[in-house]
Amino acid sequence: MAGTLDGKTALVTGGGSGIGRSASLAYAREGARVVVADVNVEGGEETVLRIKEAGGDAILVHADVSKAEDTLAMVAQAVEAFGSLDCAFNNAGISGGRDRHLTADYLEEDWDRVIDINLKGVWLCMKAEIPQMLKQGGGAIVNTASIAGLVGLSGTVAYVAAKHGVAGITKATAMEYAKSGIRVNAVCPGYIQTPMVQSLFAVREGFEEQVSSRHPVGRLGEPSEIAEAVVWLSSDAASFVTGHNMPVDGGYVAQ
Ligand SMILES: NC(=O)c1ccc[n+]([C@@H]2O[C@H](COP(=O)([O-])OP(=O)(O)OC[C@H]3O[C@@H](n4cnc5c(N)ncnc54)[C@H](O)[C@@H]3O)[C@@H](O)[C@H]2O)c1
Repeated sequence: MAGTLDGKTALVTGGGSGIGRSASLAYAREGARVVVADVNVEGGEETVLRIKEAGGDAILVHADVSKAEDTLAMVAQAVEAFGSLDCAFNNAGISGGRDRHLTADYLEEDWDRVIDINLKGVWLCMKAEIPQMLKQGGGAIVNTASIAGLVGLSGTVAYVAAKHGVAGITKATAMEYAKSGIRVNAVCPGYIQTPMVQSLFAVREGFEEQVSSRHPVGRLGEPSEIAEAVVWLSSDAASFVTGHNMPVDGGYVAQ
């Protein structure tokens, strides 16, 4: 059966775990060759293996998205391996930390780390990807923001700042390249069952029940439910969609 991304190359940052792994598998299912980029080599290798076992094609690139030289090398390796870069899912990110700190108590070093990876990292990825997409005459970028990019959450000020920033740069970049055939959108997940949030549930008693109940659907999301939105936003089926920060959140921000 024909896939919606046959013959395309898709790059996924944070492809070694959670939402990024699920999106990598979904891109491959739709016929794309996948470049899995991560600092987590073991997780990235596992994603590549799963894609190959399912009959797809993928490579692993070690890249820290907060370093410009890594993001440039990541795009160069993608083009060297597969000849193009058509879809990019800029998804790598970290949580705001296991302990919740109110704004006045938040540590400056935590602020810098979260902003460097979750916000500057997304910009550095787009900065590296866009020249290649312009050369090819277009492309589709999807960034990972969050419900924390649309509403405030307490105890995690840097994460909220970074994700609101991702929502902002998604709109700004979409405006800049709309006439060049590059669409730029973001997904805004609610709480999703991934190692990132599971590690928070492990240390905060009652937190899982508390956040589940905050979603109108009454449950957490699965990584595959985000992956399907990412694949759609990356495909020609979304050809008139750009500059959109799409909640995929069981109704969380509709309340
Ligand atoms: N899980 C959720 O509830 C949720 C909700 C909203 C948004 N998000 C966002 O989704 C994205 C993916 O999170 P997840 O839940 O799948 O988490 P995860 O921890 O399962 O996966 C994140 C991946 O990113 C990688 N990574 C971290 N820092 C990196 C860096 N500097 N360079 C390259 N790779 C790096 C990690 O190694 C890991 O493989 C993040 O941006 C996160 O903020 C998650």
